[in-house]
Amino acid sequence: MKIFISGIAGFLGSHIADAMLAKGHEVIGCDNLIGGEKDNVPDDAEFYEDDCNDLERMQKLLRGVDVVYHTACTAYEGLSVFSPKLVSENTYLNSVSLASAAIKNNVRRFVHCSSMARYGTQEIVPFTEDMICKPQDPYGISKYSAELILRNLCDVHGMELVIAVPHNIIGPRQKFDDPFRNVASIMINLMLQGRQPIIYGSGEQKRCFSFVQDDIDCLNKLAFQNDVVGEVINIGPDEEFVTINHLADTIAKLIGFKLNPIYLKDRPQEVKLATCSADKARRLLGYQTKYTLEQGLSEMIAYIEKKGPRPFSYHLPLEIVNELTPKAWTDKMF
Ligand SMILES: NC(=O)c1ccc[n+]([C@@H]2O[C@H](COP(=O)([O-])OP(=O)(O)OC[C@H]3O[C@@H](n4cnc5c(N)ncnc54)[C@H](O)[C@@H]3O)[C@@H](O)[C@H]2O)c1
Repeated sequence: MKIFISGIAGFLGSHIADAMLAKGHEVIGCDNLIGGEKDNVPDDAEFYEDDCNDLERMQKLLRGVDVVYHTACTAYEGLSVFSPKLVSENTYLNSVSLASAAIKNNVRRFVHCSSMARYGTQEIVPFTEDMICKPQDPYGISKYSAELILRNLCDVHGMELVIAVPHNIIGPRQKFDDPFRNVASIMINLMLQGRQPIIYGSGEQKRCFSFVQDDIDCLNKLAFQNDVVGEVINIGPDEEFVTINHLADTIAKLIGFKLNPIYLKDRPQEVKLATCSADKARRLLGYQTKYTLEQGLSEMIAYIEKKGPRPFSYHLPLEIVNELTPKAWTDKMF
């Protein structure tokens, strides 16, 4: 099969590419490198430094493609409150552009990566796929809007759609010099530089992390199984709940770092308890958590050590700066 991966220089896109190549598929992909690195793209994949919003270019690149994996996104939930144009352009609009090009080229299946931000604040956790979405920030709204328009386009034009909801996946190749996201990678990068991590609020907000190798197999099955067409499926764990304080503590112990975090005020709209149910992924895709948090973090530490810890790069514009904007960003505290 010929598989096209948008965002192939990113974290999930590059791991999906590796797994598809290992199975003997032809892989081609694009990335505008706003959040990824060329080094992440596997050598055997055909790579184009292009933006999904460039419709004409996408129409050319998608010729002869069987399946599209759409991972390209500015996946910045916190930043989206302050840079809504940037985030919606690269979350909602780029999905419309890529889907339009895919339909023009008679692509059979479009696997869309959404986000747990689609659920927003719910009365009940863990979040299940049948819940009514109540996204709380521009990122979640853009993700959910993309789902709605993709569903509409796919229904009308007869392209198969699968919506994956990856959540809190961590691992090597995640951008670690980015001050706006990827809490585990940020903490590792800081501690390896001998610097204290910054925690928003009390640090008692809970997350459930999954290591990338536990998720890739499920993500790849979405290209081939017939029983996933039209479905929304959470991809990630629902077993090991940890607080951000515990995460910092675990990383510090693995590195051998004396921890004394810097606490800052809560970020607006940050979801306090966010976990998704993995029942549907277990049932349809055989999802199983194999890596423990410690194992996953150890591999990430080894990766960042090998690459060399780096200063943080404030490479994205803050469109709105006011009293709500986190000081860590306005004062470039990382
Ligand atoms: N990693 C996770 O835990 C997680 C959680 C929830 C959702 N997701 C979703 O999965 C997808 C992949 O996430 P990731 O963690 O690999 O992020 P990532 O930032 O590592 O990868 C995204 C890639 O898309 C590229 N990109 C952004 N806008 C683009 C555009 N307009 N045209 C071309 N390329 C563009 C970036 O340069 C980057 O390389 C995203 O849609 C994200 O929202 C991931």
